[in-house]
Amino acid sequence: MQSSSLHGGDLDEISRLYGIDKSKIMNFSGNVNPLGLPDSVKRAIAQNVDAATGYPDVEYRALRGAIAQYTGAKAEHITAGNGSTELITGFIKAVMPKKAIIAEPAYSEYLRILSQTGCETVLSPMNEKNDFMPDPDAFDITDDTDLLVICNPNNPTGTYLTAKQIAALARRCKQHGCFIMIDETYVEFADAAEHISAVELTGEYDNIGVIRGTSKFFACPGLRLGYGITGNKAVLDKVVQSRDLWSVNVFAELAGCVMFTDTDFIRKTRGLINTERARIRRELGALDKLKLYNTQSNFFLVKILGGDITAKELFLRLIEKNILIRNADNFPFLDETYFRFCILSPEENDILLDSLKEIFK
Ligand SMILES: Cc1ncc(COP(=O)(O)O)c(C=O)c1O
Repeated sequence: MQSSSLHGGDLDEISRLYGIDKSKIMNFSGNVNPLGLPDSVKRAIAQNVDAATGYPDVEYRALRGAIAQYTGAKAEHITAGNGSTELITGFIKAVMPKKAIIAEPAYSEYLRILSQTGCETVLSPMNEKNDFMPDPDAFDITDDTDLLVICNPNNPTGTYLTAKQIAALARRCKQHGCFIMIDETYVEFADAAEHISAVELTGEYDNIGVIRGTSKFFACPGLRLGYGITGNKAVLDKVVQSRDLWSVNVFAELAGCVMFTDTDFIRKTRGLINTERARIRRELGALDKLKLYNTQSNFFLVKILGGDITAKELFLRLIEKNILIRNADNFPFLDETYFRFCILSPEENDILLDSLKEIFK
């Protein structure tokens, strides 16, 4: 894989390849909240380091209770996981589809895991002509489709389906015996997350499984905490059984019991992301050589319309200034004209915006 299109988190490799001290890289490619770890989480971990001498609760009762309070889902519909990554694998192996559809371009892990299971996977394109807004009618669900995978809001486009559209899709999928796996890793960054999230629908439709992470919004990818929600007991039991015992460590367990009630952190994050998202849209939207899509996430997908430069060349120009963006040319249905960057602090965003304005003026 090219260094410019590595997973957002691979700072070690970037640092090694370009000879830049890891701490000096402005990481616009990782999609992690720039506010950093919530103070409540820092305190909880610092004051409880001795928790490492014991095992976590094997059933994660307190953690599932905290997630239930936060999401409004029933605790018995929830399971915790070692990041959303473990749950993506868990749900796929629980459903064990023979045929699956993925709305693409999307996060690469769905296809990677599905390919390992030998499943026939159809990539259903979101159309650039519709500014990559997903079209539920475009999913060709038939009696042999076992699984539909949607990332909502979607990485890398930031576009989304509404909960209303998902409910209609769930009814259609139900007629064909198809399960819908929805990755909501970025939903908390959305303006009106309640109109997008399918969590509430899991109480009504037993063919929906929602996956959430904490790595991005709560800025803790190193902790490895995610959770899955489904009203389908058979699927949930399989996800739980397939997971290793104690795969969520005590510090992630502790963090999860405090982060979701940190309303100050949640409010500050939403304020920062909303303000910066609007400002970036305004400032880059004024450049004729770039096209931005309608993101509801903390990152932007951008198409280069002019300027005689590919996304990879742009990556190389910016990494010289310690600015790390994601070259998006290796996502299905995208090409060398697409790149993605996430929202960091206003000061860091200014540095990226100034560089982009200079290159694409
Ligand atoms: C859409 C999406 N899902 C899941 C993940 C993995 O997150 P986690 O750290 O929770 O395993 C990522 C990471 O980039 C992602 O973009």
